[in-house]
Amino acid sequence: PKPLRVAIVGLGTVGGGVIRLLETNAALLARRSGRPIEVVAISARDRAKDRGIDLSSYEWVDDMTRLVTRSDVDAVVELIGGSDGPALTLARQCLAAGKPFVTANKAMIAHHGLSLAAAAERAGVALKYEAAVAGGIPVIKGLREGAAANEISRVYGILNGTCNYILTTMEKAKDAGQPRDFADVLKDAQALGYAEADPSFDIDGVDAAHKLSILASLSFGTQLAFDHVDITGIRHVIAADIAEAAALGYRIRLVGMAENGPDGLFQRVHPMLVPLNHPLAHVDGSLNAVVAEGNFVGRLFFQGAGAGDGPTASAVVADLIDVARDEYGDAFAMPVASLIAAPKADTGAR
Ligand code: NAP
Ligand code: HSE
Repeated sequence: PKPLRVAIVGLGTVGGGVIRLLETNAALLARRSGRPIEVVAISARDRAKDRGIDLSSYEWVDDMTRLVTRSDVDAVVELIGGSDGPALTLARQCLAAGKPFVTANKAMIAHHGLSLAAAAERAGVALKYEAAVAGGIPVIKGLREGAAANEISRVYGILNGTCNYILTTMEKAKDAGQPRDFADVLKDAQALGYAEADPSFDIDGVDAAHKLSILASLSFGTQLAFDHVDITGIRHVIAADIAEAAALGYRIRLVGMAENGPDGLFQRVHPMLVPLNHPLAHVDGSLNAVVAEGNFVGRLFFQGAGAGDGPTASAVVADLIDVARDEYGDAFAMPVASLIAAPKADTGAR
């Protein structure tokens, strides 16, 4: 069968993971997809950089926009990041040209997801972004497909691996009697490939807010409303806060929570006190968890690795399998024209 020929743009933590996964599981992927998935071109900023993987068998392309019109590229995978700039230009050009587009870029989807989904609809091609929310957890598929029959009233969870790693590592260090500094633990998270290129997006709650706005849209059938998320990050959480919370029977977690009620759309990201008897209190390290409450299915709980090369690559390649099978639907679970604008609930935030 004819292979799916893909170009991968961005060869950092996630891009490297995707190449490794495609190489390691090539035979399995061919069976699952009904045809091989082949990388025909790669691109990033610095061709000379040592990435710890052998890329010599792939064609390097300096100007990524040239991929858009190449007839030997069936789909483009964007793993650069950034809400605007080259990632957005590439996405717009690919979709306008009718090229399926796979991305892990939550910032771009949160800001421009609807216009990109509309472009994908016009062209009749896939816009896929499973890796953009909660790393390796198949939560986009879960909500978009598995829970699609439900009215979902509430969706919430731990949506940032870096923050969860920092909070839980500080917690464990305190328990071991060797408290660790926030900045020091953040450096570990960066070294492990969890953090954004600018880690202030993680620790200030913006990355979790990007993801929450995407989950809210998928869950409620509302238009994306990232600008309406009330956000507080974990920058000011200190070891003493964690100790006080523990003394009261709680753990501190950065939680994103969205509800669509009679008063409008409520979306908040804040460090919250989670009681020890709640499953979110036991989500440790870079794990993420998402809870969704549907009117027929009841409470769904998704948990898994929220960041890092392997889990994120798993989600990206799952999208490629869908593209290879020509199985895809509306990017936001319904046509863009059917998404309703939800008024922002008054949360009392100043
Ligand atoms: P990263 O390690 O910083 O890699 C970014 C890659 O993009 C690098 O290869 C870089 O090239 C390339 N790049 C940056 N600017 C470019 C430009 N102007 N033109 C061409 N290439 C450019 O980032 P990452 O962690 O892999 O994240 C990639 C995307 O996945 C982001 O959208 C991120 O939010 C998302 N994501 C990440 C994770 C995670 O756990 N890391 C999880 C889920 C989603 P050079 O290497 O040559 O500098
Ligand atoms: N920086 C993100 C996080 C990567 O820490 O969760 C996964 O989206």
